[in-house]
Amino acid sequence: MSLRELTKSVELDGKSLNILQPISLDVNASETIAIVGASGSGKSTLLSIIAGLDTPSTGEVYLKHQPLHQLNEEQRSAVRAKYVGFIFQQFLLVNSLTALENVMLPAELANIPNAEQKARELLAQVALADRADHYPSQLSGGEQQRVAIARAFISQPDILFADEPTGNLDTRTGLHIAELLFDMNKKFGTTLVLVTHDPKLAARCQRQVVMDSGQLTESSAESYDNQASDLANVAQVS
Ligand SMILES: Nc1ncnc2c1ncn2[C@@H]1O[C@H](COP(=O)(O)OP(=O)(O)OP(=O)(O)O)[C@@H](O)[C@H]1O
Ligand SMILES: [Mg+2]
Repeated sequence: MSLRELTKSVELDGKSLNILQPISLDVNASETIAIVGASGSGKSTLLSIIAGLDTPSTGEVYLKHQPLHQLNEEQRSAVRAKYVGFIFQQFLLVNSLTALENVMLPAELANIPNAEQKARELLAQVALADRADHYPSQLSGGEQQRVAIARAFISQPDILFADEPTGNLDTRTGLHIAELLFDMNKKFGTTLVLVTHDPKLAARCQRQVVMDSGQLTESSAESYDNQASDLANVAQVS
């Protein structure tokens, strides 16, 4: 995945507001990378552009060598269905579908065979086999996020985008979900692009970049080490 001088600006009250300054970034296959930074710094905007949900104002974005900036909505949607999985802070399950049907949905949209069998296997991997027929409203936040993780992996995405996946969960459930996310990621060899406010979660990624007022900077190895050792300390304490 590759970004070249990507920018985003929007029109607001007749004025142009720059949300993302020119951003260039390369992410290797199977790499795990965290995007951290203050609220409003542009993390979600950047993620939605890299994932092909939104388009840049200028610059280039390549996902699996596909030039997303040159593709129309329909073509981007095809690229997403083939290569991309998402996990959001608000889970975003379809309320009228059961857990099983939610997990099956991306596979059905992408015409992947044996969707039900795969969905049941994934639900088992997130320890929700016995909740397959439950609707989102019958599941706790942590359970809904586990369904969302199962759903994200069903199309065996090359790249997984996660925007604050533990943001709406208590600390303990959040840690559990993070564990599951990194486990599944390792198992499937997926590239992970993770947006988070949580330094401990970010420190679990191989690389961290910081968004600051729409600008992206690579964080130093030192702060990575510090955070990694903080995490080790926390792990020892708890
Ligand atoms: N369509 C839009 N129109 C106007 N402003 C927008 C639009 N989309 C985003 N913004 C602004 O761009 C900035 C970046 O928003 P973004 O959601 O990317 O931040 P974020 O880093 O994800 O924040 P948070 O951590 O709170 O989720 C914010 O100031 C936001 O108000
Ligand atoms: Mg955001």
